[in-house]
Amino acid sequence: MKITVVGTGYVGLVTGTCFAETGNDVTCVDIDVNKVNKLSAGQITIYEPGLEKLFERNLKEGRLHFTTQLAEGIKDAQVIFLALPTPPGEDGSADLSYILRVADQLGGLLQDYKVIVDKSTVPVGTADKVHAAIAKNAKVEFDVVSNPEFLREGVAVEDFMKPDRVVIGTQSERARKIMGDLYAPFVRQGNPIIFMDEKSAELTKYAANSFLATKISFMNEIAILCEKLGADVDMVRRGIGSDDRIGKRFLFPGIGYGGSCFPKDVQALVKSSQEAAYDFRILEAVMDVNEKQKLFLLPKIQAYFGNDLKGKHFALWGLAFKPNTDDIREAPALYIIDALVGAGATVSVFDPEAASNVQQLIGDKVTYAESQYAALENADALIIATEWSVFRTPDFDKIGAVLKQKAIFDGRNLFEVPRMQELGFYYESVGRSAAKP
Ligand code: UDX
Repeated sequence: MKITVVGTGYVGLVTGTCFAETGNDVTCVDIDVNKVNKLSAGQITIYEPGLEKLFERNLKEGRLHFTTQLAEGIKDAQVIFLALPTPPGEDGSADLSYILRVADQLGGLLQDYKVIVDKSTVPVGTADKVHAAIAKNAKVEFDVVSNPEFLREGVAVEDFMKPDRVVIGTQSERARKIMGDLYAPFVRQGNPIIFMDEKSAELTKYAANSFLATKISFMNEIAILCEKLGADVDMVRRGIGSDDRIGKRFLFPGIGYGGSCFPKDVQALVKSSQEAAYDFRILEAVMDVNEKQKLFLLPKIQAYFGNDLKGKHFALWGLAFKPNTDDIREAPALYIIDALVGAGATVSVFDPEAASNVQQLIGDKVTYAESQYAALENADALIIATEWSVFRTPDFDKIGAVLKQKAIFDGRNLFEVPRMQELGFYYESVGRSAAKP
């Protein structure tokens, strides 16, 4: 099948590359000349494990093309995916201007029947708006389909190639057949393609992310309660997770969810609810809990240092909002840095992938260490904000020898408390008792 993907951001590039991988001929369109030149020359523009190999292979085999010209890019396509940004506007609602601008142009460019697919996360009712915008200038038949993505950064290729489910929102039989054929190779293992109407598909995306965010905030509150009551959140997590109805996944407490999806999508659903004259109280609480959770470690650090952080120096491991990505959007580490520097402390940071993004954002507000151990030099204590695998089994002797005080504040529960006690570390984590040798 010939496919066009408009927008070569994270979702667009993964979508385009993965469709090429199953033998489709894919043209990706972007207005950014620089990006299109890079991609055409074989230079990948995002960090995503496993993507580069697929990208290079499909480019070489001539199944992946890049252009800045929308008209040329869509000419022969049967299906056009819109993978454009929907940033939160000032009031928290999703800004649809990128999508609607392309929809406006598309109408006049269509020369035969095409399926236009909303891949971006968009509020309920957007498919209707996109349809209306195209219909203004269109002289041929077309369908607008909602097909939300459920890609996790770091495992996006796997999520795309072997999805738990594919959600397709359309009421057109013709579009349904085309979309079903396109996705058939991805669901061979028996996972479902769930067909529904456009609005339900749009809401499914928000409901999924909001539900997962709720799970996290719920566990973060349970963790707080565990500390107050003397229970252990690891035990509670295992105790409830083995109930199938609850499930083992997404029950890990920490220092809050970040990234490009959860914060934005929860906020957008709250906003959509308000517009529908409904007050979505649970989600308002989910957001509120998450905001506070990002600074969960701070009072513990303050208490340890007698409430005065002036002149103290900290090592901070982990800047990305989660491991295996260089994405720092809404990353808890940035909030911790702000608070520490605001309290008169200095910070030396290390992250396997995300340091240069942080440097672009906050410059010399912190110092950037070459390695996780170099970050420890002259530090009074170590703070861990992201659970990168390399942080899980560190050389504790080295840490203990370099740190001025053997103190670790761990926002991701990487180590067992009794072990840290044994090793002689003062160790605070989330929802478990502290080790206080
Ligand atoms: C998420 C959804 O999983 C994906 O389906 C959607 O399309 C986009 O948003 P992503 O933002 O890449 O993906 O990250 P994910 O792995 O889901 O983690 C989100 C956040 O939740 C991270 O900040 C992570 O640290 C946090 N989290 C996750 C927890 O705090 N505890 C958990 O148990 C799981």
